[in-house]
Amino acid sequence: MTREKATEILKSHDQLHVLQGFDRLNEDQQETLLSQIEEIDWKVIESVGEETKNARGEIKPLGAVEIPEIDERREEFTEEGLSEIRNGKVGAVLLAGGMGTRLGHQGPKGSLDIGKTRHLYIFECLIANLLEVTDVAGVYIPLYIMTSEKNHDDTVRFFEEENYFGYPPEMVRFFIQDMAAAVDFSGKLLLEEPGRLATSPNGNGGWFLSLHSSGLLDDIHDRGIEWLNVFAVDNVLQRICDPAFIGATVLAGAESGSKVVKKVSPDEGVGVLCLEDDKPSIVEYYEMTEEMRVAYDDRGELKYRFGVILNYLFRVDALERHMQDELSLHVVKKKIPCIDENWQPIKPEEPNGYKFETLILDMIHMMDSNLPYEVVREREFAPIKNLHGVDSVDSARELLEKNGVTL
Ligand code: UTP
Repeated sequence: MTREKATEILKSHDQLHVLQGFDRLNEDQQETLLSQIEEIDWKVIESVGEETKNARGEIKPLGAVEIPEIDERREEFTEEGLSEIRNGKVGAVLLAGGMGTRLGHQGPKGSLDIGKTRHLYIFECLIANLLEVTDVAGVYIPLYIMTSEKNHDDTVRFFEEENYFGYPPEMVRFFIQDMAAAVDFSGKLLLEEPGRLATSPNGNGGWFLSLHSSGLLDDIHDRGIEWLNVFAVDNVLQRICDPAFIGATVLAGAESGSKVVKKVSPDEGVGVLCLEDDKPSIVEYYEMTEEMRVAYDDRGELKYRFGVILNYLFRVDALERHMQDELSLHVVKKKIPCIDENWQPIKPEEPNGYKFETLILDMIHMMDSNLPYEVVREREFAPIKNLHGVDSVDSARELLEKNGVTL
């Protein structure tokens, strides 16, 4: 894009400050900035002022397949799931494009060492969990890893240095998610350094589009993959491509499945699965009405009790059908390191602007059906969001040890 074109575009969006000092930039910096300007999705940037809550449809509880039933039918579910895996119908997608700002670890979150007497990296825990399944199945499962431009090189290098923790490298493919520009509270684009807009990964909701634009959807078709198990980087205890979960979803005839845990209290901060206008949906804890929060059924259990743990199963054809559907945009207040008009760095202690994200949990509502599949929290849910306290390295270590993992 030429400077003249960029000026015209920025002027029409009242963002001309971005070109301040343009003449002082070297040629590379000028080029970077112009190409960043070309890529801006103005619809996203200009949604700041319209920060209205999306009106929700009619919400009803959605029943899950619960642990007693799973225990009874475990063999049947597992056989079905193993047969899907052995027939090459299942792929795994690791979402590792986030910034992990709460943890504050330098480098990709998955490269954090949580061992005590030995090295034990987050990525290593995940691969070990996947290997438990592939060992039983007798086949490897293709693993697609989403990174962002901020952590891609470091992530790939880390896997190479660690020999993919024993997983065959030819079964692992990386793809890079898109970025979104960030703005200050008045909607003005921020610069993170001279000649570069402040950008951040655009949320985990864009994973399927990014998989597609990277060309990897062809790989999925070529391999005949019909199901994708998508999971977060930070839950070190989660079962990946769990045959019983896959089998239960297939046998239920559902288009998607979600691993869920029973909420420990009405106030627990997890999104819950429900039906919204008769389609599966996830309501975030902060969107729940008081009435929903404390609604009990005849058994004295919370009606909306199944919290999601970011481990989902999707049919590929259903994802493709909805690829162009728009996901709601989440505008999030964050601390965004940037420079001021004199190019002096600002390291904010408090949120100073907005980032824009779409979320995978909103994809559930695109599906015609979803099977909530209950898991035992202490065995499958140990997310690492912080160093200490709730959902932290400390709590995850405790749970790993309880599950027999040597740290
Ligand atoms: P989180 O919501 O915990 O975000 O991501 P985060 O970026 O890792 O951490 P904070 O909020 O900055 O502390 C849940 C999962 O979604 C992935 C993360 O890598 C994690 O596996 N994710 C998140 C992406 O892949 N891309 C994104 O843009 C955001």
